[in-house]
Amino acid sequence: MHVIALATSVTDLKNDDDMPLLLAACEELGVPTEVCAWDDPGVDWSRYAHVVLRSTWNYIECREEFLAWAERVAATTNLVNPLSVVRWASDKHYLADLAARGVPVVPSRFVEPGEDARAALRDFLATNGQAAELVVKPTVGSYSKNVKRFAGTAEDEATEHIVRLLEQNRSVILQPYLSSVDQVGETNLTYFDRVYSHAIRKSALLMSDGTVNGPTPDFRAARVADADEQAVALAILDATADHLGLGRPLLYGRVDLIRGNDGRPMLLELDICEPSLSFPFCDGGAMRFARVLGQLLQSQESGA
Ligand SMILES: Nc1ncnc2c1ncn2[C@@H]1O[C@H](COP(=O)(O)OP(=O)(O)O)[C@@H](O)[C@H]1O
Ligand SMILES: [Mg+2]
Repeated sequence: MHVIALATSVTDLKNDDDMPLLLAACEELGVPTEVCAWDDPGVDWSRYAHVVLRSTWNYIECREEFLAWAERVAATTNLVNPLSVVRWASDKHYLADLAARGVPVVPSRFVEPGEDARAALRDFLATNGQAAELVVKPTVGSYSKNVKRFAGTAEDEATEHIVRLLEQNRSVILQPYLSSVDQVGETNLTYFDRVYSHAIRKSALLMSDGTVNGPTPDFRAARVADADEQAVALAILDATADHLGLGRPLLYGRVDLIRGNDGRPMLLELDICEPSLSFPFCDGGAMRFARVLGQLLQSQESGA
């Protein structure tokens, strides 16, 4: 049966504001799709020609279980993006791999379970010019969960948060807080098949009083990505394809960039697993995605 499964989760579908627009675009183009939850044990994934990851967002609480599911799906049908991408991109350690390939990445100091949190923090501050403010976040996470902003002088508070995450057996990233986000926000660029589709501006989510905003519609707005942002995003997608030895461009991907203190765009997050694509904020994004999904089905039918 030549149908594409769009994978969500039992609890996340209601928050997926891309899905209705994507379904409408697929229907208009005659691309057969069904929405299925990865955590619904009743789904027979082998019935589908392709399983395309969409809003499987609850996996951050059970990544191993999710990867085991992805492995089972990839063994019976075509998982999109592929399993190697899902494994690599669902843990922000990928930032180190990309930095090693020479693309600009927000300076990141990783702290692993078992390490001394305070010593790691002091080391980070010493190598980052005693950053006035820093961000502490888990390597596996989304929706700003457990992401916190601290003053560089708030050593005790920052250490406490790092320790709390390490004790949950999570790896941690320390980054300087890039204050350009307060003026110009971050830019999320969406690509289909290596072709730029659209971008949004996301306003700063970490407030100086310690409160954190969700990336809800109030914080997103359409924008055209600048030429330097598009160049960096493409370099990041190409470095990723190289790193993972992918034979073809990623079907979909979102590159989140933030400008450093020198004004240059740097990678904050690469979402090529289950990105929210902000379709309600752009013209034609859902249709462009539906088109590459249609091509995917066609290439399979023609045996390409
Ligand atoms: N180094 C940083 N400088 C400034 N803001 C940051 C930094 N890191 C994260 N943030 C803010 O926190 C939000 C969530 O962090 P992010 O790295 O995107 O993780 P998540 O996977 O939870 O979305 C970002 O959208 C941004 O507003
Ligand atoms: Mg993010």
